[in-house]
Amino acid sequence: MCGIIGYIGSREAVPILLNGLKKLEYRGYDSAGIAILKDNRIQIKKCKGKIVELENLLERGLPKGNAGLGHTRWATHGKPNNLNAHPHNGCNSEIVVVHNGIIENYMPLKEKLILEGHNFTSETDTEVLPHLIESNYQNDLTLAVKESIKEIEGSYAIGVISSLGPEKLVVSRCGSPLIIGVGEGEMFLASDIPALLGYTNRVIFLGEKEIATITKDGVEIIDSEGNILQKDIIKIEWDEEMTEKSGYKHFMLKEIFQETMVIRNNLEGRINLSTKTPELNDLSLPLDKIKEMERIFILACGSSYYTALAGKYILEELIGVPVEVDYSSEFRYRKLLLGKKDLTILISQSGETADTIAALKACREAGSHILGLTNVRGSTISREADSVMYIKAGPEIGVATTKAFIGQLMCLYILSLYFAQVRKTLNSSEIEKIVSELMKIPQMVEIILLEDPKIVKLSEEFYKYHNFLYLGRGINYPIALEGALKLKEISYIHAEGYTAGEMKHGPIALLDKTFPVVVIVPQDRIYAKVINNIKEVKARDTLVLAIATEGDKEIANIVDRAFFIPRTLDILYPILSVIPLQLFAYHIADKLGCDVDKPRNLAKSVTVE
Ligand code: AGP
Repeated sequence: MCGIIGYIGSREAVPILLNGLKKLEYRGYDSAGIAILKDNRIQIKKCKGKIVELENLLERGLPKGNAGLGHTRWATHGKPNNLNAHPHNGCNSEIVVVHNGIIENYMPLKEKLILEGHNFTSETDTEVLPHLIESNYQNDLTLAVKESIKEIEGSYAIGVISSLGPEKLVVSRCGSPLIIGVGEGEMFLASDIPALLGYTNRVIFLGEKEIATITKDGVEIIDSEGNILQKDIIKIEWDEEMTEKSGYKHFMLKEIFQETMVIRNNLEGRINLSTKTPELNDLSLPLDKIKEMERIFILACGSSYYTALAGKYILEELIGVPVEVDYSSEFRYRKLLLGKKDLTILISQSGETADTIAALKACREAGSHILGLTNVRGSTISREADSVMYIKAGPEIGVATTKAFIGQLMCLYILSLYFAQVRKTLNSSEIEKIVSELMKIPQMVEIILLEDPKIVKLSEEFYKYHNFLYLGRGINYPIALEGALKLKEISYIHAEGYTAGEMKHGPIALLDKTFPVVVIVPQDRIYAKVINNIKEVKARDTLVLAIATEGDKEIANIVDRAFFIPRTLDILYPILSVIPLQLFAYHIADKLGCDVDKPRNLAKSVTVE
């Protein structure tokens, strides 16, 4: 959701905060602001819109100072406007706060503070924080923050700066992520890693309700009781170049063209190339847990939910254990019917999605073993899960996920083969057959990416339509859902994913020549059924674009347009068929002039409910 950045050192803070905010902008871009401390005076500069608007504002007066906080907003409480933009200050500009999260009890706190004589100027929940800290302040900012967080309910990552007392930043978090960057004679803080990589790759991950007091010489961290904590400094393997566009027009396009690398990353060290068997030595999931598991629950949100759905088909096919898939946001309020012999798999690129973190806590209480599939080392899910499998996609900046989706699918394939090996549901030659084909997937993806110009041509033909139906069947149904989501979220065109078999039970009523259909129809065991569904659609004069298998002579006579993907095993088609759908959505959105990397109303990591 929102992005927070902070700096304290001997360099000018503004350029560092602006650079950090640009790296965080994918977390929210409704408004932005900074607060700079110098000579016991804080200057706040903030405005509605993207970071570029803030830069324009700063051209008319650049605050000087070596300590400051910055914020880019995804609006939850109060419209995107200058007044609701962060940072927020108390009754005077002595205590200033930036916040990511939701203060659920802000109304009663606000009423209490108004009775104490505090004046509020914004509609935000956040503004109660500087007033609350102000009312708890007795010459020690850290203690004032410690007392104040005892009174707030909800999720928060907060940065506090004050013109009272020595130069320091005080930060705390609960639910929302916050990372401290360790420099030489300077310190940093940020909502996530990419914002720090230009300055340091040595970081400290703040735990729940911990409070850190940061000066240019270092950091002191206490728990909510005031006990001093020793925290590890973690070295991050990513570098800043990985967070640049590297000559691509958009991060999304760069990240799609990194998918071959992501697939190779996931095969490396997880497949024994000589025996063609899966080896998950870094997966701390006890063998007895794998042997005894009676059911698997996969929980996730958004696109990660669609990989979870594909995971159901893969796991049930290869290990024959019933798999339940649910949206984390729904699962957490369902009656929990899971126990010790059930494995919970949480899928989250960011590792910070609030609903998935809440589902983790619910499954833990039920005694289920938690396996997290995530992309971000040090993220909440990677720290809270019992076992973790990293999807090795590298930093993903484009709000619409692409390469992480591929990384998640690769993890589910390798994990399923590993479970099948441990539970002996597949013999070595069956495992070898799938592993051999999996090892050919990188070349197949190269072939698809080389055909991008064909997808550009298709997008030039289809970008003018306002509604799309995406169809798939069996293991390709989740890919139809993902294809539709990609188009929706970056081009704002209405698109619906549907299982091809269900279409005639309703959505077929929508169809006419203004409502194109994109259908995933590889030559797998249900090919003939999907062909029937295509004929039902064509009978309504609908324009049909097929994602089909190379060498399929029949399909060209049935559909209007076809994009061919390499032939592979039925169970592996999802990882090939999603890529042309990612590119199709990208080129349509680009043709429509959309801000592909920062689509309206979205954020890369949803850290509030
Ligand atoms: C996908 O393109 C979106 N960015 C969104 O649906 C995303 O998949 C969802 O918010 C889940 O995020 P996570 O994988 O980081 O938990």
